[in-house]
Amino acid sequence: MSGAPGPVRIEGREKVTGSARYAAEHTPPGTAYAWPVPATVALGRVLSVDAEEAMAEPGALAVLTHENAPRLKDVDDRTLLVLQNDRVPHRGWYVALTVAETPEAARAMAAAVRVAYAPEEHDAVLTTDHPRLFVPEVVNAGLPACRERGDFDGAYERAAVRVDATYTLSGLHNHPMEPHASTARWEDGRLFAHDSCQGTTAVRETLAALFGLDGERITVVAEHVGGGFGCKGTPRPQIVLAAMAARHTGRPVKAVLPRAQLAAVVGHRPPLVQRLRLGAGEDGVIAALAHEVTTHTSTVREFVEQAAAPSRAMYVSPNSRTTHRVAALDVPSPSWMRAPGEASGMFALECAMDELAGAAGVDPVELRVRNDTATEPDSGKPYSSRHLVECLREGARRFGWDARDPRPRSRAEGRLLIGSGVASSLYPVFLMPSTAEAQVTGAGRYLVRVNATDIGTGARTILTQIAAEALGVAPDLVTVRIGSTELPAAWLAGGSAGTGSWGWAVHKACSTLNGMIDERGGTLPPDGLTATADTKDDIASDPPHAKAAFGAQFAEVAVDTDTGEVRVRRLLGVFAAGRILNARTGRSQFIGAMTMGMGMALMEGSTMDARFGDFAERDFASYHVPTCADARGIEAHWIDEHDPWLNPMGSKGIGEIGIVGTAAAIANAVHHATGVRVRDLPVLPEKLL
Ligand code: MOS
Repeated sequence: MSGAPGPVRIEGREKVTGSARYAAEHTPPGTAYAWPVPATVALGRVLSVDAEEAMAEPGALAVLTHENAPRLKDVDDRTLLVLQNDRVPHRGWYVALTVAETPEAARAMAAAVRVAYAPEEHDAVLTTDHPRLFVPEVVNAGLPACRERGDFDGAYERAAVRVDATYTLSGLHNHPMEPHASTARWEDGRLFAHDSCQGTTAVRETLAALFGLDGERITVVAEHVGGGFGCKGTPRPQIVLAAMAARHTGRPVKAVLPRAQLAAVVGHRPPLVQRLRLGAGEDGVIAALAHEVTTHTSTVREFVEQAAAPSRAMYVSPNSRTTHRVAALDVPSPSWMRAPGEASGMFALECAMDELAGAAGVDPVELRVRNDTATEPDSGKPYSSRHLVECLREGARRFGWDARDPRPRSRAEGRLLIGSGVASSLYPVFLMPSTAEAQVTGAGRYLVRVNATDIGTGARTILTQIAAEALGVAPDLVTVRIGSTELPAAWLAGGSAGTGSWGWAVHKACSTLNGMIDERGGTLPPDGLTATADTKDDIASDPPHAKAAFGAQFAEVAVDTDTGEVRVRRLLGVFAAGRILNARTGRSQFIGAMTMGMGMALMEGSTMDARFGDFAERDFASYHVPTCADARGIEAHWIDEHDPWLNPMGSKGIGEIGIVGTAAAIANAVHHATGVRVRDLPVLPEKLL
């Protein structure tokens, strides 16, 4: 079931001994250091930037502003158009960049830059009746903003059991261990950069557009990346700033974004207000479902978290309405954060399911089983595989769910109240075209090249396994090169689509190479024999099946009735995600994401400060994430799932599903323990007292 531990990470030793080098650890001779200067007003114009004092600092090289910075060409992602004009669209937007001989000098310069502003009235707080609210054309992942099936209003009205509840989430931020960092240099009109990102193919394309350069003249390398979770999925300002400063000074330039600046410039999960209405029969089977989402975006770039999308896929719902409204406020630009849409939307749907279970008097596991569906309700397509029920049953068995007294506040240990909760998970299967190359390199060895990115997941290791399997050789005969635009272009590490997309291209290149070797009658193939593969024609644009991974999350909490503190005693997830290619790294993905879901449930939150128009939390002292002491008793298991409709490996993505449903399982457990239904995350102690 969960198998023996899989192969260890190929670069594991380099990482734990510190010899693996990250973007900021490349220092070409003559490197200078940059430090960005964020706007201190929430909206307005820059009247002047006085750099005199800054330039008097020892080691000062330059101060870039909108007046002297290299000009950039327009691109879709306007968060990258830094230092191009005097507008300040939100607090924290970069208004200057200092460059110096050392990082310390650059920081001292940044503190000495004097910026004068013409501030304007800003509006940064989302409300459900905000005058700027509108219905966007599409939401994230290109989905329609609104969908209507059947007659929701009529069916809801007629339903024997109804739930109408509104769930709210504050903003949330990805805080990868490695902050966003780039080292860039220009040489004979060519740009070379190391960047901390989730995929250099997209970074190169964007830099080419911004600087009006042929992509062939740009090399971007991301050899090791210390986490991304979505906030490095799109190119970020650090590489643009480093490249501009390198052009301006004629020196290699390193730009590392200080953690205190990240909240404003690398995206966030936006605050969300979600109204859920479920209408069901006495048996708990859903007849009507409405999931209505209100959220914010910035005036710089439209990003709408598709939180209602999972309600289109999860349960039987003959009559359904799923909508999104968004207000473009004077706030930092939101973007991807692990399972955008699913993590947030399933918090609301799965808490509403718990409320429905209570209202209908049906066991929460049984309620989900009764509402299972073999076809995706919204598209009407059959699922290529869907083992939600098996996950729920196996999870219930392992967790000991049947021993549970369903009544809230029914279990106490001294001053602690103990409760348990369940929630379902889903994450869609995305597959993106990629290219790869496989080559015989002599002595029965093989070299595989693909511009995949390892953001800490173990991509190198998995791709080596996939290549070895396709070639029919031992993994130690295969070397896989990833993390550079000099390699065949590939999709980024995002949307849980990395392994499936890269692996498909790698598998195809290796299979083709095998065919070429066979044609030679199996004699020792010549060095240099090479096969290339491109999967763009293999991935159907309108496949006959709906494809998604499913899971079930179980949580047990202890709530201190004196302090309101919630401790997660156990978190148990069972997932059905196709073939798990490496049990060791796969388990890490699930457990890591479940831990992030615990943070979402109990401690993470970015507070919009109405007066300053920015998020208040700037560091790990204020933005709390689970520590090792919090993350105990977390177990991940999986169902053996065979699905021929996915890719040659039979795998579904596993990077994101682990965060989906976790927060709801914990919030539902808190309700079971205390009888208090907290509909606003995180579940802080004061909400329970
Ligand atoms: Mo992930 S939010 O798809 O990088």
